[in-house]
Amino acid sequence: MSWKEKLIIALDVSDAKQALGIVDMLGDYAGVFKVGFELFVSAGPKVVEDIHNKGKKVFLDLKFHDIPNTVTKAALAASRLGVYMFNVHTSGGLDMMKRCRDSVAELCLKENIQRPKIIGVTVLTSLDNGVLKNELSVSHGIKTHVKHLALLAQKAGLDGVVASPHEISLIKQHCGKGFLVVTPGIRPSWVPPDDQRRTATPKEALKNGADYIVMGRGILKQEDPIKALELISLEILTA
Ligand code: C5P
Repeated sequence: MSWKEKLIIALDVSDAKQALGIVDMLGDYAGVFKVGFELFVSAGPKVVEDIHNKGKKVFLDLKFHDIPNTVTKAALAASRLGVYMFNVHTSGGLDMMKRCRDSVAELCLKENIQRPKIIGVTVLTSLDNGVLKNELSVSHGIKTHVKHLALLAQKAGLDGVVASPHEISLIKQHCGKGFLVVTPGIRPSWVPPDDQRRTATPKEALKNGADYIVMGRGILKQEDPIKALELISLEILTA
């Protein structure tokens, strides 16, 4: 798998036309395009269909977090949209994740749909130990918490987790190599972290074993996104 197939571009825009323009511009450079809250709420499921019509895969990043029944219904709808990957919050609990996973598997078998990869969100990359402890009352630290949530996601039968690049090796060590790690918080060495707190460069994240890296502003806010991608490519391919 080349690194470009591991690259997920975050379509963090509110307009379908703009999003589809990005897909056209970067279609040869990335394997998957991520539709998150902003785009989905503004443009609706049609934008997912439009990306599929361009022959591209979609990661539906809506981070479902609700009671098991509600999450499961949303997950079934996402599966019927034909997305490649979608995510749920691991803090929704084991029953929520398990029911979601089992219902999706059953539906996909029955309706002959390719089962989407179901990914659990652990601790957002915009949070750090201070926020976790002082605001969320989680005192055992990010690493322990991420490990706990990743193991819970694995127990529920999920395909992998979203985590920061700093926790990739920890997750692989405890959940095994085949358990997917999708990492946002990726910044080329010359780009500031913005609101992300646990960041790494694309090269570092891939070297640590990330299966997919999510990039938004680190590419799309650069003056020339294609040039930025080529520089990243060079950095990755240089030992
Ligand atoms: O612009 P930037 O590369 O920081 O964008 C990261 C993308 O990944 C955003 O769309 C954000 O919502 C998403 N994401 C994240 N942290 C997670 C899950 C998803 O930053 N834990």
